[in-house]
Amino acid sequence: MKKNLKRWNEATEIHAKSKDYDLESFMKGKNSLHKIELEELGDISGKSLLHLQCQFGLDTLSWARLGASRVVGIDYSDKAIKLANSINEQLKLPADFICTNIYDLPQKLDEKFDIVFTSYGVLAWLPDLKEWAKIVAHFLKKGGTFFIAEFHPFAWIFDDEHPNELIYKYAYFFGKEPLYYTSAYTYTDQEEEMYNIDSYNWQHTFGDIISALIDVGLTIESVKEYPYTFFPQFPFMEEFEKGVWRFKKDKYNLPLIFSIRANKN
Ligand SMILES: C[S@@+](CC[C@H](N)C(=O)[O-])C[C@H]1O[C@@H](n2cnc3c(N)ncnc32)[C@H](O)[C@@H]1O
Repeated sequence: MKKNLKRWNEATEIHAKSKDYDLESFMKGKNSLHKIELEELGDISGKSLLHLQCQFGLDTLSWARLGASRVVGIDYSDKAIKLANSINEQLKLPADFICTNIYDLPQKLDEKFDIVFTSYGVLAWLPDLKEWAKIVAHFLKKGGTFFIAEFHPFAWIFDDEHPNELIYKYAYFFGKEPLYYTSAYTYTDQEEEMYNIDSYNWQHTFGDIISALIDVGLTIESVKEYPYTFFPQFPFMEEFEKGVWRFKKDKYNLPLIFSIRANKN
């Protein structure tokens, strides 16, 4: 979908300047990963890791800083991959970045990994989850671990612009046609207007996601849901820790993030 790619290329430039991604602190050693993936994946030292939809690679490089023996990040945004490479020219971590549509990755990379990782804002850009799960399984070594932490599909059914209530707006069971969405801003703190305002999203249900992984033969080891998220998804949320938002006490108690850990036997 060309419009999505154009938007990601433009967003990369805004994100790279944003306080949210905080590239300056990252260059000085800050780790960009969240407690969910850090706790649930545990010690990754000495392991190889493939990061799907890595954008400009801060999380990818963070895993390398934590001791992964080799990391490979892939993304279809050429601007993002160019930036990832230039960041790593300075950091010199054991990392490679590949610019490719995820669905074409098997033609670009011939390697298996201990860990395949992907996180936060990835699945809604993918039209075909069954094909995605095949890619995940393909790149795992026998005994390897797949880990995803992602925004919960249930939370996307609500109007994210209503000032003080959750109002049902989007179908949960969605069909194959993408949802057309228009927004002049990206999700970071930077209030810069974008030229590429159009995007297309695919909603995948929690069942679709879990079934896609089971159908390619992975063994699900853990499924977790969390009542907080890492951006102000609705205008009336509170930031209860730096960079972590939830609904005010007694307002709503709903899942906002999920994680899945699965194993290739
Ligand atoms: C929300 S961002 C990933 C965010 C990541 N968690 C981070 O904070 O850097 C989603 C990424 O998916 C990439 N993407 C979307 N569709 C893709 C596709 N079909 N193949 C490869 N990358 C894709 C976009 O270029 C974008 O960098």
